[in-house]
Amino acid sequence: MTMCGIIGKAGDGNVIPDIINGLKKLEYRGYDSAGIAVLGENGYSSVKTAGKVDALSEAVTACRCAPGDTGIGHTRWATHGAPTDRNAHPHFSPDGKFSVVHNGIIENASELKKSVLPEDEVYASETDTGVAAHLLAFYYQGDVIEAVSKTVNALKGSFALGILCSDCPETLFAAACASPLFAAKGQSGTFIASDMGAVGEDAKEIYKLTNREIARLTKDGIAFFDADGKPIVKNTVSVQVGRLSLEKGGFEHYMLYEIMQQPDAVRDTILPLIKDGHIIRHEGFPEREFVRERLNKIRIIACGSAYHTGLVAASLIEQYCGVDCRAEVASEFRYSAALIDENTLTVFISQSGETADTLAALRLAKEKGAKTLAIVNIEGSAIATESDAVVFTRAGRETAVATTKAYSAQLAVLYALTLYLAREKGTVTEEQEGAYTAELLRLPEKIRLTTETVSETVTELAAMLAKKEDMFFIGRLLDSAAAMEGSLKMKEISYINSQAYAAGELKHGTISLVEEGTPVIALATQEDVFTKTVANLYEVKARGAYTILITEEKFLNREFAADKVIAVPDTADPFAVSLAVVPMQLLSYYTAKNRGCDIDKPKNLAKSVTVE
Ligand code: G6P
Repeated sequence: MTMCGIIGKAGDGNVIPDIINGLKKLEYRGYDSAGIAVLGENGYSSVKTAGKVDALSEAVTACRCAPGDTGIGHTRWATHGAPTDRNAHPHFSPDGKFSVVHNGIIENASELKKSVLPEDEVYASETDTGVAAHLLAFYYQGDVIEAVSKTVNALKGSFALGILCSDCPETLFAAACASPLFAAKGQSGTFIASDMGAVGEDAKEIYKLTNREIARLTKDGIAFFDADGKPIVKNTVSVQVGRLSLEKGGFEHYMLYEIMQQPDAVRDTILPLIKDGHIIRHEGFPEREFVRERLNKIRIIACGSAYHTGLVAASLIEQYCGVDCRAEVASEFRYSAALIDENTLTVFISQSGETADTLAALRLAKEKGAKTLAIVNIEGSAIATESDAVVFTRAGRETAVATTKAYSAQLAVLYALTLYLAREKGTVTEEQEGAYTAELLRLPEKIRLTTETVSETVTELAAMLAKKEDMFFIGRLLDSAAAMEGSLKMKEISYINSQAYAAGELKHGTISLVEEGTPVIALATQEDVFTKTVANLYEVKARGAYTILITEEKFLNREFAADKVIAVPDTADPFAVSLAVVPMQLLSYYTAKNRGCDIDKPKNLAKSVTVE
């Protein structure tokens, strides 16, 4: 079972450098182990290693891996089977003819071992992918397309497969069902990849493989077949390839680069949603009539940081639109009673557009007849394609596993959606909506200003925080939702145990963990609850906490109990968390840096989580 990135090339000459380079760009899909197989003059060369693609690249150089005209590569995030050399892809058929890389889950692997494949078959790995390699050899009688067709029809679950056969050294085969796989013609050959961003500008004509379709690629062209092996003609797809760049804009890490790109991400995202100073009814937003006459409930469903943007929006929508709105974790929602119907708007937020739980939740919402809206960063992704409506965030490619600019861009769409709903529901006047929209337009510049003004205090604090093993983030309402994101950023990249709490809840148990010097970071940007959060800060300070307050400049003349204050520019209450999140992102970045952590690729994580 794997949740991974695959790539393949049929070219002329040595395909290894392109495959390794592509794998580096696919590492956001997992980086527990990596491997390649190429077919050259003397048959196969294959190298697999536990660890990152850099380790694979070194191993390839060290063993002087023979070049080949065709090749496949894989980078893995382990689900079943430890991330060892043995479980790394590619996997081979017992006769050594077929090699396979796979992304997805073959659900009937054990069943196939028992009912289809010979009893005495010996499996070289613990993975389900091995079974696909065995099936190919089992069905092969001289025609690879026939063997692939029989194999894909036997498989249940989701898969994107890259396949080589030593009988056809200049050909690459591929097939896919419910896992993303693209095929493309380029200048130097033809390619397959889980994400064409890994190939970049060389990918000219792009096709998406679905429904067990099969592709046969040679350096000059691609032929497509349906699941039964009959030739078909496919249309190209328009995917925003966006280069999965290995450039960091002069910064040491992608994460810092992406934090600094947030003003552009927010600006590019909101501009298409605004006209003449007002939020438009974007084609992705629900129709006016639905909002006015039917909409009685909103559910925002997502995972990770995207879920955290949902928490902010749920609070805003209830407050400003008067509509029952809740954010739900997709992995819970998909198995819950899901009390939604045709008068419910369900909103699915996802950077990648491929997160398995969010996709399953979307399918459930559609089954229940709810209206579905996706807020997604990647065009052509499954969530964008399957949803009734979609609004794209324009954050550009995000590479660091810990999201920053996609989070900010998602919030920006949710602000626009809130203002649209509020205007249609009549809970704000057009004039008020116009005033908020004007402030929304100022947000990108204020985010930029924030990165500058907070930098000195943040770097100074990070040196101290790096020595701590526990900390807390607290806030109320929107600040509570943003505190969850600040805390997640801190723990995922610095490995410091960090917890986020609704400020008023801390005293119901968790405050017992506060000791002399425990850092407590409070967010207080909301006028109505400012004094309440500050009161909670006094409580922890009285118990020895080191208190840090993140607030707006306009509150600096108030009374509070903070050892250190980080002030962000003033803005309207609904948008303040977009500024407050910036020092939290930077605090986690510099804290992790001081601790010598692998900031862009934190341990055990992957950026795109395509298994449940
Ligand atoms: C992973 C990433 C998170 C992300 C979450 C949801 O856990 O590490 O940064 O928020 O998945 O991903 P999505 O692509 O659906 O936004």
